Amino acid sequence: MVDRRGAQPPGFAPRPLDGLRLLISAGGTREPIDSVRFVGNRSSGRMGFALADEAAARGAEVTVVAANIALARNPAVEYVDVGTAAELEAAVRERLPACDVLVMAAAVADFRPADPHEGKIKKRGRDQLQLRMVATPDVLAGVKNLRRPDQVIVGFAAEAGDQLLVEARRKLESKGLDLIVANDISDAEIGFESDINEVTMLGADLQPRATPRGGKREVAAAILERISELVNQRAPTSRTR
Ligand code: CTP
Repeated sequence: MVDRRGAQPPGFAPRPLDGLRLLISAGGTREPIDSVRFVGNRSSGRMGFALADEAAARGAEVTVVAANIALARNPAVEYVDVGTAAELEAAVRERLPACDVLVMAAAVADFRPADPHEGKIKKRGRDQLQLRMVATPDVLAGVKNLRRPDQVIVGFAAEAGDQLLVEARRKLESKGLDLIVANDISDAEIGFESDINEVTMLGADLQPRATPRGGKREVAAAILERISELVNQRAPTSRTR
């Protein structure tokens, strides 16, 4: 009954995110070493996909820039597949003007091999292999100069233990975000391949709001409630429901 863009047919009750356009990056980038190997990370894309599913169920028009995600796809969501940080950056920049909210849930590699080898690096004759790594662009930090003031920009922060809030605040401010969603990667029960998460959200008021530990879909719902508040503060007349 719902088309891919989430539009509700006439006669159905309005949903809380009807008409909102969300761009979500998810998963983890892979930076090639040679034609068969890469430098990657442990992000599975579960949190980003849960956000996309929950937002689509609430009526939003959702595009996911998906970096290397092997999870079931939702017919109500549009997916753009990317591999590397550079591809993710290009896909996000291209679609940024058409979104109301950007959520950068992807784990973007901070460094990539400087000179990926064409073909496969052979083991024969080597007792070591040195890789020179160079920094990748910070996609979110770059968005700071491209965004419109009416857009809501949300980042994630993967942090360990007691520095979580300090680091989340630093990233909120340095990347010019409206909201940062921090999760504690030192807690083995939550995050990465887990179906469970617990996050702390920090916005401009610097009042940390923690979600209860729960399924990623429940955590996604809590994050979307907060995003909804921020969207309504931006455009109270058009979006307040
Ligand atoms: N991010 C990005 N581009 C990068 C690295 C990160 O856009 N090259 C985004 C992530 O998608 C996330 C936020 O920035 O929304 C924070 O990512 P995180 O890995 O926690 O932090 P870093 O900026 O990499 O900083 P640090 O290495 O100090 O943790």
